[in-house]
Amino acid sequence: MHSKLEKMTTNRTFTMLKPDAIENGHMGKIIDLIIQSGFTIKAMKYTQLTKEQAMKFYEVHSERPFYMELVDYMTSGPIVAAILEKENAVADFRTLIGSTDPADAADGTIRKSYAESKAKNAVHGSDSDENAQIEGEFHFNSSEII
Ligand code: CMP
Repeated sequence: MHSKLEKMTTNRTFTMLKPDAIENGHMGKIIDLIIQSGFTIKAMKYTQLTKEQAMKFYEVHSERPFYMELVDYMTSGPIVAAILEKENAVADFRTLIGSTDPADAADGTIRKSYAESKAKNAVHGSDSDENAQIEGEFHFNSSEII
């Protein structure tokens, strides 16, 4: 059990496909792109966040003006949460998803192809190994990680 959690610090990242991606029918295409880009799925869940969960997950942004907008949006419909594995997972996944604002995202990135706006930006990716572990453990217990 301990070793599974330990592995989350190495070569793993955490993602959520956000409500806009699901609502717009992009779930399958995005998951396929993630797999074709060399990521292995270690855990995956189709779920809807409660307000309490979203507030806690985005606590780091609680002082930002868009915090409650973000919480409302992230609870507005189903999401897919997943732990992904690949060498250099955090950095490579952030390259694959592109800039926060799809207007700035490079061609071929998930956000360029599928995001609606800076707020409705299709997908989340952890920004560090440490946050990947915290975020993964927020959504999954060790028995759910393969
Ligand atoms: P992400 O990087 O996954 O996590 C923080 C989220 O906050 C970010 O994606 C956006 O969805 C959201 N966000 C960032 N900036 C803004 C903004 N200016 N207005 C609304 N939402 C934002």
